[in-house]
Amino acid sequence: MPSYTLKINGESMVVDVASDTPLLWVLRDHLNLVGTKYGCGMSLCGACTVHVSGEAVRSCQLPVATLGARPITTIEGLDPDGTAAVQEAWDEADVPQCGYCQAGQIMSAAALLAKTARPTDDEIDTAMAGNLCRCGTYARIRKAVHLAAEKTANA
Ligand code: FES
Ligand code: FES
Repeated sequence: MPSYTLKINGESMVVDVASDTPLLWVLRDHLNLVGTKYGCGMSLCGACTVHVSGEAVRSCQLPVATLGARPITTIEGLDPDGTAAVQEAWDEADVPQCGYCQAGQIMSAAALLAKTARPTDDEIDTAMAGNLCRCGTYARIRKAVHLAAEKTANA
């Protein structure tokens, strides 16, 4: 079994897994980083979204062998205290219903806000389009993204 050294949430982590193992399985089954969720396994729902080099990506379809030394951030590493503006905004806007999709939603929102400080509704909808929510929390997600943008601007 090949060995891979991954840079996850600022730490080097070594895993011995088959080269085609998706990052999502590495995170959940080998590193116990279970905040990232399995939804469809086919890059269709966004539940498994993490950041690789700052980009929001679907970890369920990302073979471990393709990652190299690129930095990976999961929901656990977005802010160790859970006080990132986006997480605070999610809390204040009371976004989650069942909660299953929300780690992926937050990771996509954080990647958007890192590039676009004050996104419009259209920009939010475009950036978040790949993140499905069966509970239909989309209006609250949009509100929370605006709130996070305000918090960051006023910080
Ligand atoms: S579990 Fe990866 S996109 Fe659905
Ligand atoms: S909060 Fe239930 S799936 Fe999104």
